[in-house]
Amino acid sequence: MNLYNPHSIIKVAHRGVPSLVPENTIASYKHALTLNIDMLEIDIHRTRDNKLVIIHDPTTDRTSLEKGIIKNLTYKELEKYDVGKWKGESFVGERIPLFEDVLQLIKNVDIKLLIEVKQPEKYPGIEEQILKSIDENGINEEQIIIQSFNKKSIQKFQALRPGIKLGVLIKKKDKFISKSTIRKIGAYANYINPNYKIVTKRFVEAAHQSNMKVLPYTINDKQAAHDMLAIHVDGIITDYAQSLEEWLEE
Ligand code: G3P
Ligand code: CA
Repeated sequence: MNLYNPHSIIKVAHRGVPSLVPENTIASYKHALTLNIDMLEIDIHRTRDNKLVIIHDPTTDRTSLEKGIIKNLTYKELEKYDVGKWKGESFVGERIPLFEDVLQLIKNVDIKLLIEVKQPEKYPGIEEQILKSIDENGINEEQIIIQSFNKKSIQKFQALRPGIKLGVLIKKKDKFISKSTIRKIGAYANYINPNYKIVTKRFVEAAHQSNMKVLPYTINDKQAAHDMLAIHVDGIITDYAQSLEEWLEE
């Protein structure tokens, strides 16, 4: 029995296609754009000289052979870091992208950008700055969804730009999230995106009752994808965007 319509599932390439190409690099995003996906997910931090950059961790330690703390480095210093080599010689030369580079990459492409604002509490004014950059790069807000674990930051986005689509991320440790908390989030967010290990049918129903979509992260095998679809989540965030179609066909 078909429990879902594979065409209506929102397919999200998490940090590009990190199972094939180093995460959060332009090469990884370009690869994602060749696949049948609906959204591209990226992570934002800010440099010492206030440049918005795309990297998951607050440091370069995991994804570069050189150590560094993003908020303590200028972009000129940071752009020297190679974020491809740690995954193999064939990726040497990949650089930490600027947010505006990604905006230009997705401009006029039929895909949505799911922007995760990392630790916004460390970067005062980052909400205004992100919105300004979206506007200055001529991106229609219809193409954007902004998400964060930080609810206050998401509420600030809502106050600044009521029309833009927003998401709240939920950690695994928040397994016992109540229906009333979900309802409160639904007052300002359009998506509630939990660690897939805590998603239940009741969670999904509560989110839908509050008019939110559910995009669980990070689903990296077919069984987990099928388990999620059986409880009617709206999409799948994965490191294996190249496998999604195959997973959804069966
Ligand atoms: O998009 C959801 C997911 O990216 C959140 O967790 O740690 O992979 O950024 P993380
Ligand atoms: Ca993320």
